[in-house]
Amino acid sequence: MPKLTVAPQGISVDLREDETILEGLFRHGYAYRIGCRRGGCAICKVDLLEGTVAYNRPVAETVLSAEEQATGTCLTCRAVPETDITIALREENLRRVASLMALYAATRTG
Ligand code: FES
Repeated sequence: MPKLTVAPQGISVDLREDETILEGLFRHGYAYRIGCRRGGCAICKVDLLEGTVAYNRPVAETVLSAEEQATGTCLTCRAVPETDITIALREENLRRVASLMALYAATRTG
């Protein structure tokens, strides 16, 4: 299982196989920004500091360009880590939000 670390907070969580970064953070009770979660709004971008990710679903060039990918921008609702990774959030701090986690879990099972 790949390990996800969030810098500079140092939060570290284990991700399941084929789990996206955003899914893994929510499953562990963390949130930072809420967007479409479908690769359409670009709000979930972070900086990938270490490791590699893959996109197992198509990502529109208008949402995440090849140049952004090449320079370390990562779309967390679609990115699945291939290795242990370290990311840095943009603009907002990671927070523990149990109510958001419950809401997200309900959308995944409903
Ligand atoms: S949450 Fe909208 S693109 Fe990721």
